[in-house]
Amino acid sequence: RIDFKVDSLLRIMTLEEKIGQMNQYNGFWDVTGPSPKFGQQAIKYSNLKKGLVGAVLNVKGVKEVKALQKIAVEETRLHIPLLFGFDVIHGYKTISPIPLAEASSWDMEAIKKSASIAAEEASSVGINWTFAPMVDVSRDARWGRVMEGSGEDPYLGSKIAIARIKGFQGDDLSSIRSIAACAKHFAGYAFAESGRDYNSVDVSESTLQNIILPPFKACVEADIKTFMNSFNDLNGTPATGSKYLQRTILKEGWNFKGFVVSDWGSINEMISHGFAKDSKQAAEIAISAGSDMDMESYSYVNNLASLVKEGKVKETTIDDAVKRILKVKFELGLFENPYKYCDEYREKTTLGKAEFQEAVLDIAKKSIVLLKNESNLLPLKRTGLKIALIGPLASDKTSPLGSWRIGADDNTAVSVLEGMQQYQGNQLQYAKGADLTIGPTSFVRELHINTNDTSQFQDAIALAKNSDVVVAVLGEHGLQTGEGRSRTDLGLPGVQQELLEELFKVNKKIILVLNNGRPLALPWAAENIPTILEAWHLGTQSGNAIAQVLYGDYNPSGKLPMTFPRSVGQVPIYYNYKNTGRPIMNEPESVFWSHYIDQEKTPLYPFGFGLSYSKFEYSDIKLSSNILPRNSFITVSINVKNTSSIKGKEVVQLYLRDDIGSITRPVKELKGFEMIELNPGEKKTVTFIIDEKLLKFYNSNGKWEAESGDFKIFIGGNSVDTLESNFKLE
Ligand code: IFM
Repeated sequence: RIDFKVDSLLRIMTLEEKIGQMNQYNGFWDVTGPSPKFGQQAIKYSNLKKGLVGAVLNVKGVKEVKALQKIAVEETRLHIPLLFGFDVIHGYKTISPIPLAEASSWDMEAIKKSASIAAEEASSVGINWTFAPMVDVSRDARWGRVMEGSGEDPYLGSKIAIARIKGFQGDDLSSIRSIAACAKHFAGYAFAESGRDYNSVDVSESTLQNIILPPFKACVEADIKTFMNSFNDLNGTPATGSKYLQRTILKEGWNFKGFVVSDWGSINEMISHGFAKDSKQAAEIAISAGSDMDMESYSYVNNLASLVKEGKVKETTIDDAVKRILKVKFELGLFENPYKYCDEYREKTTLGKAEFQEAVLDIAKKSIVLLKNESNLLPLKRTGLKIALIGPLASDKTSPLGSWRIGADDNTAVSVLEGMQQYQGNQLQYAKGADLTIGPTSFVRELHINTNDTSQFQDAIALAKNSDVVVAVLGEHGLQTGEGRSRTDLGLPGVQQELLEELFKVNKKIILVLNNGRPLALPWAAENIPTILEAWHLGTQSGNAIAQVLYGDYNPSGKLPMTFPRSVGQVPIYYNYKNTGRPIMNEPESVFWSHYIDQEKTPLYPFGFGLSYSKFEYSDIKLSSNILPRNSFITVSINVKNTSSIKGKEVVQLYLRDDIGSITRPVKELKGFEMIELNPGEKKTVTFIIDEKLLKFYNSNGKWEAESGDFKIFIGGNSVDTLESNFKLE
C-alpha cells in the first residue's frame, strides 16, 4: 500500500519538487527570532516555502519543529512533511554511556533499552530520524570517533547494531515513540590512515567484505530505514561517489529499500578530494552513485534539475531516490499526521523521566570494566576509611556526557564526587590535583589541554599521604573524543600521568578510575597501580554508576570491545589479526620474526577482557562431534563455575579459527557469546551451536563460503585465556 501511495504522489510531482525531497538543510531558523532575510539563510527559507526541502537537521523542540513542519505541510503545493534528523547518538536529554562503553556491557537488552529511551525523548521534541547507529568497525584508537561505535569486532558490532536499531525503530515505525535509524558511515571511515579523521582509506576487498561490511549488512537485515555515506575516499573513490558501495553492494546486493543520505557537505567535498571539478559534477557523481539525499552541500537543489535537462542524469534515477525518501516518510506515519511528534505536553512530561534515569544508570553500571584488582582494593569497605578522591574528572559534571550529546545541557551528569558522597560511612575528601582543560569547552571547538601546570599537585599529594586509599579519576575530557578529535598520543592528557606518579610515591593504594572515549595506552599504570576501573564516559548517571561499583553494590561485568595497546606504536592492534609467516621466534635470539625490538607485541588488555569481584573457572570443553557435516550443526559446551563467595556475571565467549583458507584467516574470530549469572559456588554449562553459516567468509572466489577443513574452538572469559578444542568441516 505504501508503494502505491508513493507512486501516486510521485506522478504529480514536478522535477523541482522531486529534487526538493532530496535536499536536507541544517537548522536555519529560530522561530523565536526574526525571519532570516539574508544570504544562505534566506535562500533556505524561501526554498522551504517552495517545497524544495525534504529534510532538516539540528532543529529540535516542539515549537521549532512544528513551525517548520507547518510551512512544509500548509504552505507548499504538495504538503509533503519534512524529516527532522538529529544526532541522537547516546541519548537526547538523558544521556546514556557513549556507544563504545555500552558495547562493553555485551548486554543487548540493555543496549536496546538505551536506544529506545533515546528515541522516546527525541521523538517527544519533534525529531523523527536519528543519525545512529554508527557501525564502523574500529581498530585504531587514535581515531576520535571510536567512542561512537562498538569497537573492533564485526560479530559483536553486528549484534549491537541490531539491538540499537530495534531500540530506535521499535516494532512499529509509525508509533510516536519510534524514530528512523541510520547506519553510518558507509563505508570504511574508521580505517582512516594514521587514525586521522577524514583521512584516506585504502583496504583490501577482503578487509572490506569480512571486517567492515558485516555490521552494515546486519543493519539492512534488521530493516534499518536509512544509511549515511562517509567523508573518506575508499581505495581511490570518495564513498559519497561510490557506485560500488551504494548501488552494487547496498541496493542491488543487499536489496536495501531505504535511502542513503550524504554526510555533511560530503557531496561538495568530492571537489577537495580531486574527484569532481565543481559542485555540479559532484551532484552528478553522487546521484549516479546512489546518494539519495544531500546533507548541506546545496549541490542537488542547485544542480540536479539542469543535469536532468542536459541528459546527464536520468529522471528515473531521481525518481528512485525520491521514492525511497517518501517511503520512509509514509512508514513513519508523517502523511497521516505530520505533527505527531509535536505535542508540547508530551515534550514536557517525557524529558529526563525518572524511569529513564534508572535505565541509563543500569546500562552505565554494566558498561564499566574492571581491568585490575590486585590485593582486592575493591570493593571498598563501607566504614572506617579515609578516602582521597583526586583528579580533574572526579568533580566534572559535563565530561561524563561525552562527545555527542547535543540535546543535553552542560553540568547535568552526576559526578564521581557526588556519587561517592551518597556513601557516608567513610571520610571522603576531594582535591582536583590538576586542570584538564582551559578555555571554553564546546562540541565544535578545539579543546585546549592545560599541559604543564602542576600548581595543584601539592594539595592532592598531601591529601593522598593522609588517606587510607586514593581514588584517582583521570582520563580524557568527553570533548577530547569524537569527531575531529584524533590523537597521536594515547596516554593521559596534560599533567595527569605526572600527577598519578606523584600520588603513587606517597600512597600505593590507588584505585585508578579512567574516564575516556577510546582505548588508552597506560603501561606504567597497568604495571604499578593496583586497581584500575575503566569507566569511559558514562552519561548522566556516571557518578552513581561508578560509586556503586566502587562500593560493591554492583559487581562489574563489562568486557572490552576494543584492544588496549601498550603504546601508540602498536596501533592498529586487534585480536583477530593474521598469523603472518613468522609469528614466533624459531631460532634462539633471532631477530627475524614478526615483533618489535623495543616492546612486546601483545596488548596491554586484550579484546573481551574484564574482571569481576567474583572468580570464574572454566572446565570441560565438550563437542557433540568432531565432524561438522554440511547443512547440519554440532554443539560445543563448557562448564563455568563461580569459585568465589560473591554472586557475579560472566560473558562466556566463543572464538573459532579456520586453520587453512583460500585466503589467510584471522587467528581467531568471535562467533558467539552468552552472559550468565552465577551464585557463589554455582556451576553452569554453556552451550553454543556451530553450523556451516557461522564459518562463512568472503574468500578468494569472491564468495561467502565455508571451506572444508580443520577448525579450532576457543572458549573463555576473554580472547586470550581460553580452553581449546577442534573439529572438521566436511
Ligand atoms: O551524523 C553526523 C555524521 O556522523 C558526521 N557529520 C555530520 C552528521 C550530522 O550531524
